[in-house]
Amino acid sequence: MTVLVTGATGHTGQHVVAGLKAAGVPTRVLVRDPAKAPDGVDVVQGDITDPAAAAEGVDAVYLLWPFFTADGIKKAVEPFRGRKIVYLSAMSAEDGGVWGDVEAAITKVTDHWTFLRVTGLATNALAWAPQVETGVVRAPHGQAKRSVVHERDVADMAVKALTEDHAKQLYLVTGPESVAQAEQVRLIGEALGKPVVWEEQPPDEAKAQLSVYMGAEFAASAVDHWASLVDDPEPVSLDVAQVTGHPARPFAEWAREHFS
Ligand SMILES: NC(=O)c1ccc[n+]([C@@H]2O[C@H](COP(=O)([O-])OP(=O)(O)OC[C@H]3O[C@@H](n4cnc5c(N)ncnc54)[C@H](OP(=O)(O)O)[C@@H]3O)[C@@H](O)[C@H]2O)c1
Repeated sequence: MTVLVTGATGHTGQHVVAGLKAAGVPTRVLVRDPAKAPDGVDVVQGDITDPAAAAEGVDAVYLLWPFFTADGIKKAVEPFRGRKIVYLSAMSAEDGGVWGDVEAAITKVTDHWTFLRVTGLATNALAWAPQVETGVVRAPHGQAKRSVVHERDVADMAVKALTEDHAKQLYLVTGPESVAQAEQVRLIGEALGKPVVWEEQPPDEAKAQLSVYMGAEFAASAVDHWASLVDDPEPVSLDVAQVTGHPARPFAEWAREHFS
């Protein structure tokens, strides 16, 4: 069997490739820039919006949809009709939105789907890196408690789903605890060996900043969602432990790996 990995140069995809290689599974990657492709895999240059060439002869795909709209998803999933699709989704798919629309499109082309619905990726914290340098991270809703997940746990789930039978499984993929964003920043400082503090940013200012790259509507809903997590923390799921056989990695471990 051959597995296609999309997003192979990204945070989760690089570990999916490594996991498949370690398991001896023939792997192909779909990349925009072959110079960035990982070693030891079949490389197909292309765009995720038009994956027909990369899909030829593959049995399964790790699918990322890195856009804030589902426009074009039908064309992207059609080449995988009847094959296994393991999709990096989001918990918010239960309310529709982009991730819900992508999931719906996938279920129309195959029964062999597995949805990895993450609450949030720990790698979101990399956006704070320039501010971490200054010792002050200014962002909204520091007391929003998020169960962000290590990208290697997502990849471990994906490798299991790609190599075992997890058809029609919808997993909630989270870290082992919900950690307030201000505490995440403190843990990053601890990893660095210097204090880093949280400064509360007015939500409207944050929405304006975020809208530049995710659009006003998406930015507003993201910031409003964080507000809701102050009193109602993101859930913690045992799916990582149950599927992979190891507990989800804590945020402190992620911070040490990325900031020390
Ligand atoms: N952040 C969160 O909290 C969160 C929550 C739920 C779901 N998600 C999902 O997770 C995804 C991010 O996953 P990640 O962190 O593993 O990836 P990532 O590090 O953000 O990297 C994105 C990957 O997608 C590739 N890519 C972007 N546009 C492409 C295109 N048009 N055609 C082909 N490849 C393209 C990039 O390749 P290049 O090297 O060519 O740029 C890169 O490999 C998001 O897009 C979202 O759907 C995220």
